[in-house]
Order: sequence, then C-alpha cells, then structure tokens
Amino acid sequence: MHIKPQGPKGYPFIGNIAKLASANRLDWLQSISDTYGDVVRFKLLKRNVYLVNHPDLVRDMLTRNSKNYTKKTIGFKMVKVVLGESTFTAMGDEWRRKRLAVQPYFHRKKIANLATIMTDCIEEMLTEWETICDHGKTLETTDAMMQVTLKVVVKALFSTALSDEDIQTVADIFNPLLAATNQRVVLPFPLLYKLPSNRNKQYPQFIAQLDDIIYRIIRQRKVTDEKPMDLLQMLMDATDEETGQPLSDEDLRNEAMTMFIAGHETTANAMSWLWSILAQQPDVRAKVEQEVDQVLGTRTPVADDFSNLPYCQKVFKETMRLYPPVPLLPRHVENDDVLGKYALKGGSDVLFSAYLLHRHPDFWENPETFNPHRFDADAEKQRHPYAYIPFGGGPRLCLGNNFAMMEAVFILAMTTQRFKLNLTPNANIKPLISLTTRPKYGVPVILERR
Ligand code: HEM
Repeated sequence: MHIKPQGPKGYPFIGNIAKLASANRLDWLQSISDTYGDVVRFKLLKRNVYLVNHPDLVRDMLTRNSKNYTKKTIGFKMVKVVLGESTFTAMGDEWRRKRLAVQPYFHRKKIANLATIMTDCIEEMLTEWETICDHGKTLETTDAMMQVTLKVVVKALFSTALSDEDIQTVADIFNPLLAATNQRVVLPFPLLYKLPSNRNKQYPQFIAQLDDIIYRIIRQRKVTDEKPMDLLQMLMDATDEETGQPLSDEDLRNEAMTMFIAGHETTANAMSWLWSILAQQPDVRAKVEQEVDQVLGTRTPVADDFSNLPYCQKVFKETMRLYPPVPLLPRHVENDDVLGKYALKGGSDVLFSAYLLHRHPDFWENPETFNPHRFDADAEKQRHPYAYIPFGGGPRLCLGNNFAMMEAVFILAMTTQRFKLNLTPNANIKPLISLTTRPKYGVPVILERR
C-alpha cells in the first residue's frame, strides 16, 4: 500500500510561495519535514511540489530512476538563459553527449595539469595579503575568496588569453549577474523580468559582454598553432562520441560560461566559512598547521601533495557538510513514481536539500558540531552515502568536484603556510541561505603572520 504524502495547506492561489521565497526557507523546509515526514507535499501557486528528505529516497531519485527526475523546472529554465544548453542544464541524449565529451578532462589526473595555475593564482593573492597584513587592515575573506576562485577558473579555462582588463571586466560583471540569476531562480516569474527596469535591461547586456570575450578567445585559439594546457583547449580537443565531431563554438561558449558560474562562487563560499570556523576552533587550526608544516614546509604544493593533506581535505569536507554551497536542488517528476512507500505524481516538482540531509539527526551524531573526523575512512564507510551530497549524486554528480577539492585544499594549505586568520572583534557571522550558503555579512579577519 502506497502513501500519499501530506503537508501544509498554504494560502489559496499562492500556496506556500511566500515561505519558499523567504530567507528562512531552509528552516521552513526542516519544520515541515519534522511534522510530515520523509516526503512532504505542498503547493506553489498551482504546482504540486514534494520535499524529499531521506538519503534512501534521494539516492533512489538520483540513481535508480534518475531519468524520471529531470531538470525540467522553472529554476533551471532561468539558469539556461545564461548558460544555454550545457552539461549543467541539458537533459536526455543532449546531456549525455556533452557529459561524455567533457568528463574525461575532469578526472583527477587531468585536473593535476591545472595545479600550477591554481597555485600561481593563490600565490598572487597571498602576496597582496602581505601588504594588508603589514598595515594591520581588515580583510574581507568572502570577497577575497570570490576574487581568487574567479581568477583560478578564468586562468584554468583560458590560461593567459585573458588580459588583466578582460579579467577585471569579468569580475565587475560577475557579481551583479550572479545576484540577478539567483533572484530569477528564487522568484521564477518571467513577467517580473520583462519590466523595463535598469536591472532587467542590464541582464542581457552582461551576458553579451561575457559572450564577446568568450567568443573572441575561441576565435583566436582556432587560428593559432599554440596549444596551452587549459580547459578551453581540452574542450576544443573533445569530440562527440557518436559523430566524432568537435564541439561547436556555441557548445564551447556554453561549457565555458557554465564553468565560470558553477565553478567559483561555490568554492569561494565554502572557503569563507572555513576561515570563520578555523578562527573559532584553535585545535582544528593547530592540526591543519601541523599537517601543512610536516608535508609542505614552506614549499609550494604540487598536484601529488593533494593526497598527502588528508586533514585539510577533511576540514573542507566538514565545512561543506555544515554549509553546503548548493543547499537546495530541484527536479521535475516526469511520470508517476513510488519512492520508498510514497506515491509521487508525474508533473510535480521535487526539492531535496544537502543542508537538511547534512544535519539529519538519524545520520549524524551532534550534527551542529564541527568535527573533521567524521570524514575518517572508517566513519565514511559506515555512513549512508547519500547523507552527504555537497556535489549532488548519481549520473549528474558535479563535474568539477576534483577541481574544487584540489583548489580548496591548496588555498587552505598555502594560506596556512603564511598566515593565521583571526576574526575582527565586531565580526558578525550569520548564514544567508539562498541558492548558495554564504556568510550574510562576510567574514572580516585580521591577518597574523605565522
Ligand atoms: C565546492 C565547489 C562546488 C560545489 C559544492 C558544486 C556543487 C554542485 C552540485 C550540487 C551539482 C549538481 C546539481 C544538480 O544535480 O542539479 C553540480 C553540478 C555541476 N557542477 Fe559543480 N560544484 C562545485 C564546483 C564546481 C566546479 C569547480 C566546476 C567546474 C569547473 C563545476 C561544474 C559543474 C557542472 C558542469 C555540473 C553539472 C554536471 C551534470 O549535470 O552533468 N562545479 N555542482
């Protein structure tokens, strides 16, 4: 016998839209899951939506029957305006074609080729920090992490092809573009974005400016014999498995834009949480310092060092447990399905949340406590694999997980070689959980030389 999921009634016509659009949406989702169970049903306008909040059921959705849980949601449609059809947004055969072409270049061994690009960018950042440190100035780490991860992804994609001026243009465009895209996903009402406001007029202009830069570089690359070791070159060398054809210029543009968008804010937000945690957990910080001193001393890490920095990896993983950069994800239910004992109706949408699963008391002891040893090999083996999903799961697992892990561990290790980051006395660390999980008022620190 299958159960029809129950849930809050909400208001006539609008349903629960105000709750889901509010800044406290994760608290609300937690409360309805506490009240109604592992699958909750509620209305958003006329749409039927389920919250699925159990690792067994999320695994079922993302693996066993992943074809039935597609990205055909209004949120993904909004993201498609910026990314076009890419590995992130495409579905069905179109997605498989793209993923197969691009995936080989994201294996750990290939990502190792990008290690020097990462360490060069981090080195440049730390050199700038020397002056900030000497002047005793406050450093806002959320901004600093956004800058360094954007630079890393830009250089990883295009190596030296972008002038400093281009990088500045990209940096200037990015924040407002991301903020506007986030808003469109959270409030996906197309009419709202047709109003003749400045913001709405700017949106296509931002996209066009980025397009100009990306297409220019693709054109330049096609007429030179140089083959730099960067992601663009890897994408240009990739071929469609069926036709043997290379990716079209539009495909290349869409993948590049996806990596810009998917590949920097996520890592930056997790890293700024990490600094706030280390500043408040001296014992964890001391262990990081010990590992870094032992493994690296003062030398710059190379790709092979990544696996010798297990504690740094665990600290980053535990940070993403408490503050998953992508806290909430949607899917569309194509056809009626049964998840566990629950009957889901085709044509509905589903939400599932890394934020809720990562704090689920049935799977985590003292879920609010920061403890990197949760990621010791034995503990990881014993845990349900879908109780921890910062990178999603199943066939649509994040393509950039190896990239992000290496980048984060190198930022942590290289920064630790030189500095301790101490919170300013007036630091107000509060989460803002929207499409991403970031510190609402940033993480201001004073740098102390080690
Ligand atoms: C800490 C950093 C990161 C986090 C937490 C993260 C998280 C995620 C998550 C949760 C998904 C799954 C979305 C879904 O199932 O709907 C995803 C997909 C994806 N991510 Fe990441 N990501 C990170 C870094 C990156 C980087 C660095 C890149 C590329 C350079 C990247 C590229 C992608 C792509 C292309 C997809 C779509 C994969 C597919 O659907 O086949 N991500 N990411």
